[in-house]
Amino acid sequence: MSSWSSGYVSEITYTHGYYRELNPSLLRFAALVNGVRFPTGRLAYCELGCGQGVSTNLLAASNPDIDFYATDFNPAQINGAKALAAAAKTPNVAFYDTAFEDFADDPSLPAKFDVIALHGIYSWISADSRRAIIDFIARKLNVGGIVYLSYNTYPGWAAAEPMRQLLYDHVQTSQGPILERLESALKFAEDVASKSAFFTANPIIKARLEDLKTKSRNYLAHEYLNDSFFPFYFRQVASDLAEAKLSFVGSAHVLDHIASINLTADQQNLLAAEKDPIRREGVRDYAVNQQFRKDLFGKGMSPHTANSRQQAWLETRFALSVRVEDVSMTVKGSLGEAQLQEAVYRPILEAFRAGPATLHEVIAGHKAVADLGWQRVQEAVTVLVGADVLHPCLPAKGETARIKATNAFNAAVMEMSKDAGDITYLASPVTGGALSVSRFRQFFALAQQQGGKTPEDWAKAAWQILAAQGQQLVKEGKTLTTEQENIAELTAQAKEFQDKQLPILKTLRVI
Ligand SMILES: C[S@@+](CC[C@H](N)C(=O)[O-])C[C@H]1O[C@@H](n2cnc3c(N)ncnc32)[C@H](O)[C@@H]1O
Repeated sequence: MSSWSSGYVSEITYTHGYYRELNPSLLRFAALVNGVRFPTGRLAYCELGCGQGVSTNLLAASNPDIDFYATDFNPAQINGAKALAAAAKTPNVAFYDTAFEDFADDPSLPAKFDVIALHGIYSWISADSRRAIIDFIARKLNVGGIVYLSYNTYPGWAAAEPMRQLLYDHVQTSQGPILERLESALKFAEDVASKSAFFTANPIIKARLEDLKTKSRNYLAHEYLNDSFFPFYFRQVASDLAEAKLSFVGSAHVLDHIASINLTADQQNLLAAEKDPIRREGVRDYAVNQQFRKDLFGKGMSPHTANSRQQAWLETRFALSVRVEDVSMTVKGSLGEAQLQEAVYRPILEAFRAGPATLHEVIAGHKAVADLGWQRVQEAVTVLVGADVLHPCLPAKGETARIKATNAFNAAVMEMSKDAGDITYLASPVTGGALSVSRFRQFFALAQQQGGKTPEDWAKAAWQILAAQGQQLVKEGKTLTTEQENIAELTAQAKEFQDKQLPILKTLRVI
């Protein structure tokens, strides 16, 4: 273990993830759903524990009027994050390899932040580091500012905690490179699971172990192998944040606000009887067997009035991130899969087919949507946002400046993807966030931008990149060895890209 890492896994770097809850447009929408006013003006945004910095880099490019700051004490990760910011020439982002414990004292930070976000941090660090985060928030969050914080929680982790301990203990007491120890720990746990009453008594944990084996090993190492691993009860976190004068705003996972897909009628009655909001939230975690929470806390945030809330809803632009034809008419809540009612959702989806529109424009321009009534429209839009189908957008004003910044960022990512497929996200100046675009699809997009007219042209351009690196496609578990086979498969993928994703990427001005 290195001395700077305080027991945090530092031998291998983290995955190149993007988390949509970090997007300011989504945070603004989540604040609205929770009935509070999001900060206004030129915002200062800070991500604590930014990992590879993909989210912050992408968000900075797509939100040039926000100043982004991010830290992660792993210098290898920050080196990569800085290289991407430099390649994209993003001016409004600064990365630091400073530990949380020292960050507030850095004189180059703004006096106060409007948004402080930390995803996947709080459960994986020591009590001292958590203390440092609370101090940072107490000192650096503006009045009216918001904190997004996600963490593992009880009771959902109660049965799985001993399995994590089994993996951790095996890795700690073995020798060799971390990935080999992790592989051996997974096999060991499987063996223990097949012979142990604990796993028989908790069959869900056996299924979870199976699922772990399919996950990225870098992700597993960071998720399961830190010295510190603490699921929290909601009340513990709420009381930590209260020390920094923050109060609970609500869930950033907007589907949590749709009672019908998460709670039975009995559970809804149980929660309705709870008047203490902190206790109610804790009881809700029991009701749904919560494992992971995505919370918003605010420092004196002002509540919306009924009128300002409705205005904010009507003025928010939304856009689809998938073709109407590809939208799944089901959504997953804590109660399992729920069917979306055609009569409600179809008119709303059709209304957004033409591109981004404010809710006001959609209601004024589509009688079928207006006829649904305000409550149903509001609920359906919340569900579609929660299902990652519809996205809250930035205002149309300022889009030209944003396009310049996202074009530079996307060009840098696509150039990097020629060598490595780490970053599978491109930035949209419309939503102010990411779209997931696989490495091959990035090659097709690049070829199309460079004048390639047909999917065959894009496939040939992609093949040139792959062949130069001796890479071949794998189809149904079989490596395609000839040029002809590889180009045929790439062409099929490029046609699908042309039909399904390219129109969306164009509407959202990604390319
Ligand atoms: C589980 S990862 C999450 C990364 C990123 N937020 C994400 O979700 O992709 C936790 C990150 O916190 C960083 N970290 C842990 N303790 C830290 C500390 N005391 N100061 C700064 N960074 C820390 C680690 O290097 C790691 O990249």
